[in-house]
Amino acid sequence: MASNHHFMRPSQPLSSSSTSYFYIFVSIIALTSLFLLSSHYLAYYSSPPVVRIESLKPTKQYVSVNNDDNGAASAACDYSEGKWFYDPTVRPPRYDETCKEIYKGWNCVAGNRSGAAEIVKWRWQPNHCALPQFDPLRFLESYRNISIGFVGDSLNRNMFVSLFCSLRHVTSEVKKWRPAGTDRAFTFLKYNLTIAYHRTNLLARYGRWSANTKGGELESLGYKEGYRVDVDVPEGTWADAPSFHNVLIFNTGHWWWAPSKFDPIKSPMLFHENGQPIIPPLSPEIGLDVVLRRMVSYVEEKSKQGTVLFFRTQSPRHFEGGDWDQGGSCPRSQPLSLQEVEKFFSVGNNGTNVETRIVNEHIHEAIKGSAFRLLDITQMSEFRADAHPSSAGGKKHDDCMHWCLPGITDTWNDLFIAQLSSMT
Ligand SMILES: *[C@@H]1O[C@H](CO)[C@@H](O)[C@H](O)[C@H]1NC(C)=O
Ligand SMILES: *[C@@H]1O[C@H](CO)[C@@H](O)[C@H](O)[C@H]1NC(C)=O
Ligand SMILES: *[C@@H]1O[C@H](CO)[C@@H](O)[C@H](O)[C@H]1NC(C)=O
Ligand SMILES: *[C@@H]1O[C@H](CO)[C@@H](O)[C@H](O)[C@H]1NC(C)=O
Repeated sequence: MASNHHFMRPSQPLSSSSTSYFYIFVSIIALTSLFLLSSHYLAYYSSPPVVRIESLKPTKQYVSVNNDDNGAASAACDYSEGKWFYDPTVRPPRYDETCKEIYKGWNCVAGNRSGAAEIVKWRWQPNHCALPQFDPLRFLESYRNISIGFVGDSLNRNMFVSLFCSLRHVTSEVKKWRPAGTDRAFTFLKYNLTIAYHRTNLLARYGRWSANTKGGELESLGYKEGYRVDVDVPEGTWADAPSFHNVLIFNTGHWWWAPSKFDPIKSPMLFHENGQPIIPPLSPEIGLDVVLRRMVSYVEEKSKQGTVLFFRTQSPRHFEGGDWDQGGSCPRSQPLSLQEVEKFFSVGNNGTNVETRIVNEHIHEAIKGSAFRLLDITQMSEFRADAHPSSAGGKKHDDCMHWCLPGITDTWNDLFIAQLSSMT
């Protein structure tokens, strides 16, 4: 039970046993439907039409960009640097707590998290341009026949749910299905626009490893238990994603700093390549570099011509007074100041949430010179210590890792759509 629990969750488990059962239930359903459906849908989509970049061209330009001195649109706006402004102006909500895809633990309004309604009253203002709220109807109309895949851990699912709820709010005809190994996908039928979530923690395939009685290289070094991580094999949940979607958003990071699962002594990551253990064994940080490099090449090789590739930067956690399992909490009701952000996240401070910027260094290095673009949500999110579910819904441990919905992953999607439409 306990190992299943940890298997399902990163270092921030949702605590109740019903939650564990929920995840086990969901994964059984997902596995079953994968077997039942994947062959059908793969056959159906076995020869997808070549989608060129022109097919991604939005019919309308609806992202306002400042004009620079030459009068040309400043496409190179850095959306990641800016400030949050409190702006309680009444805006029509993108969606509300009744959106059925919002996972219970993230539904802060329904879960009575104090100040939940305030979270969306802050507006991100980049220093040199505007980042308006995206218009879901215009988005659907502009991206017909397009499929968008989110590949990653539960933080990417959080962003996926935000996009789903925003679109579902303006159109009701939606088909739920599970093509190409997805955890879940939705097609907005009137527009034939599909959004999908592929669940993967490390991107690379991994599984339990135990010493073989016949011995071996790892056994002779004294290893008894751990996780085998195949640096050159993408996890099956997303291996078909690059040839299926037109736009992909990847993330990984939280699970690489999750000692509750990958304990360096009791259950270390044991990296393999070509099916053989890598000797001498790699540390997780080096293993992460190798995996990122391999997965970036895999995606570049397998994706259809014109596919737009994003790598999302690390989502910050905001535990104060200890980590998630040491009574840490996130009681703030307002964004942090710039000084507080540095105190939380500067690598030199080695605070509880120090992994945020370290992960980003690895990501930056891995996508250099590749076809991937960065979706840089880290800086804007570092301020938002107030936007996590915390104890919403009465959890045993505070959740200071995921985000309330509605909430700031809505702004991540504004950024994603602004970047997508500026390049197509
Ligand atoms: C939230 O508050 C309402 C009204 O006070 C109550 O009916 C509901 O049960 C509460 N929900 C949770 C998850 O505590
Ligand atoms: C979407 O696909 C349908 C059928 O293949 C086609 O008729 C339509 O023109 C396409 N729409 C766009 C905007 O590409
Ligand atoms: C819907 O879009 C997909 C790509 O996402 C395309 O393969 C398919 O032909 C489209 N179907 C129709 C009916 O336009
Ligand atoms: C950072 O802090 C952790 C404990 O919180 C400690 O184990 C580790 O050695 C520290 N690292 C550095 C580089 O100081």
